[in-house]
Amino acid sequence: MEMRKLGKIKVSSIGMGCMGFSHGYGKVPSEEYAVNAIHAAHDFGCTFFDTAETYGREQFFPGHNEQLLGKAVEPFRKDIVVATKLHISSEEYCEEKDLNKIMRSHLEASMKNLRTDYVDLYYLHRYNEDIGMEPVAEVMGKLIQDGLIRGWGVSQVGVELLRKAHEITPVNAVQNLYNMLERDCEKDILPYCMEQGIGVVPFSPIASGFLSGKVTADTKFEGDDVRRFVPQLQKENLIANQPVLDILNRYAAEKNVTNAQISLAWMLKKYPNIVPIPGSKNKERILENLGAWNVQLSDVEFDSLETALDKVEVYGHRGHEESQQKSFSHNWRTNA
Ligand SMILES: NC(=O)c1ccc[n+]([C@@H]2O[C@H](COP(=O)([O-])OP(=O)(O)OC[C@H]3O[C@@H](n4cnc5c(N)ncnc54)[C@H](OP(=O)(O)O)[C@@H]3O)[C@@H](O)[C@H]2O)c1
Repeated sequence: MEMRKLGKIKVSSIGMGCMGFSHGYGKVPSEEYAVNAIHAAHDFGCTFFDTAETYGREQFFPGHNEQLLGKAVEPFRKDIVVATKLHISSEEYCEEKDLNKIMRSHLEASMKNLRTDYVDLYYLHRYNEDIGMEPVAEVMGKLIQDGLIRGWGVSQVGVELLRKAHEITPVNAVQNLYNMLERDCEKDILPYCMEQGIGVVPFSPIASGFLSGKVTADTKFEGDDVRRFVPQLQKENLIANQPVLDILNRYAAEKNVTNAQISLAWMLKKYPNIVPIPGSKNKERILENLGAWNVQLSDVEFDSLETALDKVEVYGHRGHEESQQKSFSHNWRTNA
């Protein structure tokens, strides 16, 4: 696969979002299946795997997803880039004011889960205003100096917070929501990142399944599936956003590829610093998504796709449902 850069860290141009194997999107496959799917992704050329310390908390335990990924990538750990995310609750910070100590303890737990002695890319999962950005950026700088992490990133932030972070310890990547239905990042995050040489890692690049055509007005979300609460995925918005799917269907048919592949190829063509991390629990769909790196849109095709997308009105936001969940505002570690 073509390679791209997140700051100085080289990764395959499409990564793999592993969250769904433990958390968030309903029933999960067996561990054996998930490990096998991760191996297949690696064999395909994927060198970038995304997890978080919190993934797994509903169905299993915090750290489940990191443990699964750690087990899967152990045979080729040194050849790949592992990204994980830390979440510091206000409660935890109030109890133990030493941020350096807190962050090191989270990182140690993640490294143990991941069966590794370094993390390639360590994200702050959500900004916490009780802590501020600058102190986190300072500790991240020390973790880099100590060789415990190779680089760091922030997730779901606006450009002002990103600037504050980057000025203290240069940021490798921003992981924000970005897809054909959620283009806020185009206003200032993407231009700032282009200017500063920061990578952008879009999460939910397929709009949580909508852009692939898999999630329809008849889809019933089960169990812990967070999409039950996503405004954009409510029936009326799914119906109202059909014109976006119609555009995708047209281009996918013309190029003999899938909708999901067009939605990924579009963002790869649009920005050279973008590395999407689609998520899937299905091996064939994981490989299909990774294959989007090789779907070439000509300049003419890209321009007409952009023009068509610009004309369409989008209904409903994904919302930041993860940040509103109880477990993100209190100490999830002590409530496993
Ligand atoms: N930083 C953050 O706050 C944050 C938030 C959310 C997610 N993430 C990360 O981003 C990754 C990806 O995000 P995401 O999983 O929310 O969204 P996504 O990649 O936009 O969509 C995933 C959904 O789309 C379906 N899908 C994927 N590829 C498909 C294909 N080719 N054809 C048909 N359906 C397909 C999947 O179903 P199947 O599983 O059935 O294929 C799944 O339900 C996560 O794994 C996680 O690592 C980060």
